[in-house]
Amino acid sequence: MQDLTTPAFMRLVAARGAPDFFVTEFVRVHATTRPEPELAEFLARNDTGRPVVVQLIGEDIAAMTRAAREFAALGAAGVDLNLGCPAPKVFRKNVGGGLLRDLPRVDALLAALRDALPATPLSVKTRTGFDHRTDPSDLFDRLLEIVARRGVDLLAVHARDVRGLYRSPVDYSFVARAVRAVPCPVFANGEISSAERAAGVVAATGCAGVMCGRHAVRNPWLFRQIRERFAAGGGGAVFTPTLADVRAYIGELAEVAGGSVGALKKFLNFVGTGVDAQGRFLAEMRRAPDLAQLLAVCDAHLVAGGRGAEPFSPEPYAGVVSRPNCEA
Ligand SMILES: Cc1cc2nc3c(=O)[nH]c(=O)nc-3n(C[C@H](O)[C@H](O)[C@H](O)COP(=O)(O)O)c2cc1C
Repeated sequence: MQDLTTPAFMRLVAARGAPDFFVTEFVRVHATTRPEPELAEFLARNDTGRPVVVQLIGEDIAAMTRAAREFAALGAAGVDLNLGCPAPKVFRKNVGGGLLRDLPRVDALLAALRDALPATPLSVKTRTGFDHRTDPSDLFDRLLEIVARRGVDLLAVHARDVRGLYRSPVDYSFVARAVRAVPCPVFANGEISSAERAAGVVAATGCAGVMCGRHAVRNPWLFRQIRERFAAGGGGAVFTPTLADVRAYIGELAEVAGGSVGALKKFLNFVGTGVDAQGRFLAEMRRAPDLAQLLAVCDAHLVAGGRGAEPFSPEPYAGVVSRPNCEA
């Protein structure tokens, strides 16, 4: 996720129970782009203990295949094609979610990427359509046919359309449709908020796995909890972090943010949806003018008055909403 899934953040999550693999924030690919040195260095010395897949966003076939080959050579565990980004400045360029309006281009891109990556996993992360109100009724089925025919190795389905941004109701029936239509594993994405929710979605759709975004920022123990929930034949005991654990996590996030109040608030935007039912923490943290006052807000809500021993809610509080700037 943009500005969130940095190498430092992946390490911090890995220390609390890593997912099977990580995916980088998207790399925008133009004719002249070259891998950023920081990302190349991270791929070379990846110390998360898990494979790291590089996500590409673009539509220029020559540039995308060149980038895919370069990242594979740099040690990417796989290359992922973004068919979901809903930011208008992105989709208007016919990339990310915008590509869902041009399936022949998706077909050509996947054909070329598959050719370029004979021995490197190729995955796709997609929304369920561009705008369900106006899309051709067979759009998702045609996309699934392309994914199957082009030999994609894994498909992650964010269960809402591009126009739904990060808020519209998720519809996991699209995930179930994908499971039936493509031979590769399908992951469900979108509001996989807890281990319970993951178990419910896996049972309902038959998907091979789940992909977690904002909810893993709110709750970095989520991957561990999901793993525990699926252990012991499905009834495993799940770790419950305390509010003091959350405060310690925020201390590490402050380091990940390099002391930048703005960068730390991007993370706390999501953490805050699980701190209190009234959304007071979110409101106060947004107003904090500097790092010292921001951390004081965290102390007041998470550890003051013996609160630190209280369990951290496994779900976000209803009606407490984060406002990601990516929706702009
Ligand atoms: C701030 C922000 C940045 C994101 N950046 C990316 C990205 O670079 N690539 C991507 O595939 N999805 C990106 N997403 C979408 C998430 O990966 C995910 O698909 C979406 O938020 C739904 O899943 P969730 O409910 O687990 O967050 C981003 C989401 C947010 C909120």
